[in-house]
Amino acid sequence: MLKPRLVYSTWKGSIRLYGVTSKTVKICGKCYGADDKMTNVTQSIIDLTGRSLHLQKCHPVGILREAIETRLNSTDNAFKSYNKFEPVVSVYDNFDSLGFPINHPGRSKSDTYYINSDTLLRTHTSAHETECFSQIHQAKETKPGFLISADVYRRDEIDRTHYPVFHQMEGCRVWKRGLQNEHIDQLQKSLAILQSQLAQQKTKIVIEDDDSIEGNPAQAYMSDIEVNLCSQHLKRSVELVISEIFEKKLESMRREGTLKLPSELKCRWIKAYFPWTAPSWEIEVWWQGDWLELCGCGIVQQEVLKRAGFEPNSTISWAFGLGLDRLAMLLFEIPDIRLFWTQDERFHNQFQRGVIDSFRPYSKYPGSTRDVAFWLPPGKNFDDIHTNDVMEIVRNVAGDLVENVKLVDQFTHPKKDKKSQCYRINYQSMDRNLTNSEVNELQKEVVKQLINEFDVEIR
Ligand code: DAH
Repeated sequence: MLKPRLVYSTWKGSIRLYGVTSKTVKICGKCYGADDKMTNVTQSIIDLTGRSLHLQKCHPVGILREAIETRLNSTDNAFKSYNKFEPVVSVYDNFDSLGFPINHPGRSKSDTYYINSDTLLRTHTSAHETECFSQIHQAKETKPGFLISADVYRRDEIDRTHYPVFHQMEGCRVWKRGLQNEHIDQLQKSLAILQSQLAQQKTKIVIEDDDSIEGNPAQAYMSDIEVNLCSQHLKRSVELVISEIFEKKLESMRREGTLKLPSELKCRWIKAYFPWTAPSWEIEVWWQGDWLELCGCGIVQQEVLKRAGFEPNSTISWAFGLGLDRLAMLLFEIPDIRLFWTQDERFHNQFQRGVIDSFRPYSKYPGSTRDVAFWLPPGKNFDDIHTNDVMEIVRNVAGDLVENVKLVDQFTHPKKDKKSQCYRINYQSMDRNLTNSEVNELQKEVVKQLINEFDVEIR
């Protein structure tokens, strides 16, 4: 089963430090000052900026992005697409403008790549919401909605479903609240179109909906009917996307002659919490025996709309954020997320624009496992070395030649009162065989950097 990534509704971790070496950092052609306390972005991550997989027409991530944009705009052509925002954003845009509390774990250096104390690599596409809302407010944009697709960056573990860069699509839609309640009419009309389109989809969605307000309060400035219509509009829009995408998958499975095809798609709406929406939900889809968490969403907090320039109480809006990579892995049957980043033609030749075919593995190159066990420096606790910091060292040394890193053992020696950890690293390339001596060299470098960075004693 695919392990979920930290969603911003959950809390974990605490702040830890990470050393810096260079005074300036160059990303997408621009230079930024680094600082000793905050900078933790590394060259191997910077090298991944600007690849724009979501814009490649025949890449699984690009195919999904295009299919979703097309489907959402097929109802009433309400969404402007923004697909070229650069990944460097301010801490304000990524967190403050969305009402993230100051101690939210998403802000910590163990989870986020900071360029300096004011700037970071966006951790989600929601970072651009305020800017896009303000384009609508200033009437620079006439469409009432927008879709933002982009690469986003998070420090995380290394395994087949996690990569420090992945892709999200943000969707938002705004209604101006008119004195004559024209917006209610508009909402009702648009909702009716959505409902009729959903009814025409070949893939029927069976929904379980937790729409109780308990523990998921609506905002005071909106009337019950507004909350209700806006929530329904949001949920039907997301359901339309899901039914469309899975329909494309089922079409491909039919062509491939798959025997047991589901006749309907089971989904459930679950209450959630996000700092910038109320009420909020997540949707999960039942696919091949597991609930897959697809997308977070909700009714945008009035404060966010005010920061974008709207007068208090003047608008209502919904927002959703959808992770593209995990969905693409599942639908295109991609066994390892590193494949998205390979330049190997045997991968890229397999996909066609507009089609969700399953990937046929061309080869499985053997992996080679190495353990590294060490004592922590005297007086240090397990908490002082964050797993993500160890991951970063391995990633920096081995890049895409590492398949998995796991903390396999940790204990405190009862007599010596020394603390030990052991990490298991599996080196494996997606594109070729690795030689033993190559792996030994990589491992030697990892060990060296662990000693330099954390002052550990190898066992
Ligand atoms: N940005 C959130 C994340 O990365 C996803 C999300 C949740 C986006 C709710 C939204 C939203 O626009 O309303 O976890």
